[in-house]
Amino acid sequence: MTQMNIIEAALEARTRAYAKYSNFKVGAAVATRSGKIYQGCNVENASYSLTLCAERTALFTAIAAGERHFTQLVVATENGASPCGACRQVIWELCGDIPITIVDINGKTSETRSSELLPAAFDERELGI
Ligand code: THU
Repeated sequence: MTQMNIIEAALEARTRAYAKYSNFKVGAAVATRSGKIYQGCNVENASYSLTLCAERTALFTAIAAGERHFTQLVVATENGASPCGACRQVIWELCGDIPITIVDINGKTSETRSSELLPAAFDERELGI
């Protein structure tokens, strides 16, 4: 799987966003150690707080398919926006410290990682697990 495949997967997922209230479309794609890519988009709701972000849609879809090991996450937005705080927490929980690529609709990318987006994360260690 090439870097371009997963970036294209995130951009493609963005086109399927259900974003009728914000019109802010987001796509995500997560690569697994087993070599698969899972896509997600944001799914909004008239009861706004029920909205699910693209990153969590992709990760929960992958988890539900039985995946447990992730190697890279790509997030696609119009303007190259970063993942929200809730998604940062979920990314840390399910992926640990992985590389994250952020891409805008012109294909401009920036690289970060989950430890940079969520320093001093709360996780299972605080629970003694
Ligand atoms: N959104 C995401 O999908 N991911 C993020 O990390 C930031 C926000 C979505 C939620 C909502 O549908 C829209 O973007 C505007 O907040």
